[in-house]
Amino acid sequence: MDLAYLQKMPQGEFTARREKLFAQMQDNTALIVFTETEKRRNSDSEYLFRPDSYFWYLTGFAEPQSALLMVKKAGQCESFIFLRPRDPLLETWNGRRLGLERAPATLEMDQAFDIENIETVFAEKLANLTACYYARGVQAWGDTLVFNAFDKIVKQRQKAPTTLISWQPMLDEMRLIKSELEVALIQQACQISALAHLRAMKQTRPNRYEFEIEGEIQHEFSRFGSRFPAYNHIVASGDNACILHYNENDQVLKDGDLLLIDSGAEFAMYAGDITRTFPVNGKFSQAQRDVYEIVLEALKEGTKLLVPQSSFKVANEKVAEIMVTGMVRLGILKGEVEQLLAEKAHRQFYMHGLGHWLGLDVHDVGDYQDGERSRPLEVGMVLTIEPGLYIPADADVPAQYKGIGIRIEDNLLITEYGNKNLTTAVPKEIAEIEAIMASA
Ligand code: GLY
Ligand code: MN
Ligand code: MN
Repeated sequence: MDLAYLQKMPQGEFTARREKLFAQMQDNTALIVFTETEKRRNSDSEYLFRPDSYFWYLTGFAEPQSALLMVKKAGQCESFIFLRPRDPLLETWNGRRLGLERAPATLEMDQAFDIENIETVFAEKLANLTACYYARGVQAWGDTLVFNAFDKIVKQRQKAPTTLISWQPMLDEMRLIKSELEVALIQQACQISALAHLRAMKQTRPNRYEFEIEGEIQHEFSRFGSRFPAYNHIVASGDNACILHYNENDQVLKDGDLLLIDSGAEFAMYAGDITRTFPVNGKFSQAQRDVYEIVLEALKEGTKLLVPQSSFKVANEKVAEIMVTGMVRLGILKGEVEQLLAEKAHRQFYMHGLGHWLGLDVHDVGDYQDGERSRPLEVGMVLTIEPGLYIPADADVPAQYKGIGIRIEDNLLITEYGNKNLTTAVPKEIAEIEAIMASA
């Protein structure tokens, strides 16, 4: 596997996306997208930088403090990139910059400008256009620059665009259906995530800390070309698993507890997002097994229903039925299945959605609704399925189920034949998990 090749998406893919966007823009308009800025962690230390996903999608450019301007005028389309200029002193201290001279050829843009001059250049390029595609509030630092440029245009006694149109619906639709290259990168992110979960299973035992297991995962990510997690690792033992986005990860693993790990690698900007739950000591107790089997059945049956023309809603109705039936069987819920379903009684123990789109962002963009109905699934969509049951320690349920939190999460590509599970490399059957842990 040539990681370097996989990691570098050809620049033509980004250019083709801009062309597709140009085709949807009205004539005499511009479109502006900003990236993220560097974020201070403490004192003069910064969080490691990650570009904005919309900006990356259209440019393939990973430096902070940059912006993209696309102008469509009299049918002519031009792309401009704004970035920090070269600076020998700052580059010696803080890292290399692409710079204005190299940017147009490298990024396949028509021209590059110093980010410091953005208001002046915007004022020139946007004057007399009818509309500007811009999403306010996505990058707040950009809002000021855009509106200052508009003021400048008016002061110069020219016409500023009268209409602001958000580019979000257009771009979200494009990002929702993945290209072949994107699928390859997501598959890689999923494969790396799966291998990391496998390592975590093998390295887990009583008395290690949650964050040690996090380290094992991170180690495996690095070995296969992923430097960053796609989101903060959730390594939640015992009833920490009932906190959906737990990330303190600082507790000791106790013999007899379960460990829920929700962790995904970011590969070439694309996310994997896997959850597995398994026993710290390698052996499920009967109570843990009882709850686990319900969640596993929900995952398997739900997966069968996430196919073209079906929807999250269809799959989730089946999942809810499985969960309620299972919980009545165990005495966690009391009453008639139908009545409990009508009351959505399962929601107290399964309080999140069945899944979400997956892509450049772990919770990727795209509408979940098509008007009133749950959006029909289409070939090229990538999504997660992640049923879970979380029974708080103080819940009014049989004692053996208190404090059990279980989620199982896979990633699916919708194909013309149904779906392809991208995360099968890490097991989820009880017997398989126990065998792997016993052999470690
Ligand atoms: N890791 C967050 C989620 O599964 O949605
Ligand atoms: Mn997850
Ligand atoms: Mn997820």
